Amino acid sequence: MPRRGLILQTRTHWLLFGLALLCSLVLFLYLLECAPQTDGNASLPGVIGENYGKEYYQALLQEQEEHYQTRATSLKRQIAQLKQELQEMSEKMRSLQERRNVGANGIGYQGNKEQAPSDLLEFLHSQIDKAEVSIGARLPSEYGVIPFESFTLMKVFQLEMGLTRHPEEKPVRKDKRDELVEVIEAGLEVINNPDEDDEQEDEDGPLGEKLIFNENDFIEGYYRTERDKGTQYELFFKKADLMEYRHVTLFRPFGPLMKVKSEMIDITRSIINIIVPLAERTEAFAQFMQNFRDVCIHQDKRIHLTVVYFGKEGLSEVKSILESVASESDFHNYTLVSLNEEFNRGRGLNVGARAWDKGEVLMFFCDVDIYFSAEFLNSCRLNAEPGKKVFYPVVFSLYNPAIVYANQDVPPPVEQQLVHKKDSGFWRDFGFGMTCQYRSDFLTIGLRVMSPADHGATSLLKPRLHISRLS
Ligand SMILES: *[C@@H]1O[C@H](CO)[C@@H](O)[C@H](O)[C@H]1NC(C)=O
Ligand SMILES: *[C@@H]1O[C@H](CO)[C@@H](O)[C@H](O)[C@H]1NC(C)=O
Repeated sequence: MPRRGLILQTRTHWLLFGLALLCSLVLFLYLLECAPQTDGNASLPGVIGENYGKEYYQALLQEQEEHYQTRATSLKRQIAQLKQELQEMSEKMRSLQERRNVGANGIGYQGNKEQAPSDLLEFLHSQIDKAEVSIGARLPSEYGVIPFESFTLMKVFQLEMGLTRHPEEKPVRKDKRDELVEVIEAGLEVINNPDEDDEQEDEDGPLGEKLIFNENDFIEGYYRTERDKGTQYELFFKKADLMEYRHVTLFRPFGPLMKVKSEMIDITRSIINIIVPLAERTEAFAQFMQNFRDVCIHQDKRIHLTVVYFGKEGLSEVKSILESVASESDFHNYTLVSLNEEFNRGRGLNVGARAWDKGEVLMFFCDVDIYFSAEFLNSCRLNAEPGKKVFYPVVFSLYNPAIVYANQDVPPPVEQQLVHKKDSGFWRDFGFGMTCQYRSDFLTIGLRVMSPADHGATSLLKPRLHISRLS
């Protein structure tokens, strides 16, 4: 009996041991799969922040969804671009084929090998003529537009990075840097050794000496590549103590860099009419006016503000915010248009553009949750040209601060949230909502501005800030 009891006991032991093992395995799996992740002593959604419950996840989902939508449109655009390139390529193939046939028939076609350098130069010039650099080109749709990347001495803002989206503000990569440094140097060469046909007088410095620009006078540049023609560069230079900008356009037709244009631009008297359609959201408006006062009234000083307000509710508050900023900064360049209608961004922009009665003006269509800098306003002036150019900056959309800074009790101050990082937001590279254009162009087109989703509809999320890619 004692022996049997012993065996029984051993069996029970094993059984208990097995059970315990099973339990700990289950617990382990649970921890692995289901436990919320902790980051050191970071607070957990649902533990400290009870208020991160359903709304938190809804907001997270919506943000994800928006992000994927932007990505989808961006991919669509890339597909359209590739299609267009394919078509251009096949047309080229066809014409080559035809030429070869003609050549075979012995009618005045010389093989490439006998081309003299002057023919090559001619060819390069013809490539420039074909590109959309000095004259406009007809595009099949908005998807055919090739966007520009922008760069400064230190940084390049790239959009197209294959499928690994989420580009960040990057220090210039070595190979790209070599290319851009060469371009900037070529631009300086053009400015410092003007041809007769350049639109610039020989300017003298304050002491009568010849003005020499160097790379520290480089403000910003833009480039884009038409894959069958070459790369276009738009460079802007400015001496700190001079008012006017120098603008140089270069083109690299898959050959040496070539000058297209060099001109002087004076934007000292260029007023921008900032048009903001608005309904409710008075808190966001108060914040907008804070930035407006710092950037537009105190720094830029060449601004008119047009607010188009929809509805009666909140109107008096908006009026008093405007009046208090106006009286404390002695600023009177503003118009408040009140419409007793439901909010419609396109209609607001249209009414805002027509409310101006002093003829031609540069307009910046802006939302109330956009943050911009004084440098951006100058980019706006430099990149829009009546009858020729409309500027669509790419804005950086910040995620909901309650999500980005969920592990902190309070999000950091707004100024510290304004960073171009992939954890904090994404480039809205198919937004097209914010734009700088001349009033005459807007009225000639005669349509309301394209606004795929009128922005008033994002009420689920906290008001968000956008920072311009160019700030
Ligand atoms: C934990 O808290 C301490 C002080 O409260 C802080 O210095 C530290 O950065 C926190 N760690 C994490 C991972 O949040
Ligand atoms: C207000 O507008 C006038 C021209 O309409 C302009 O000369 C002036 O600089 C503007 N003031 C500010 C502070 O923007």
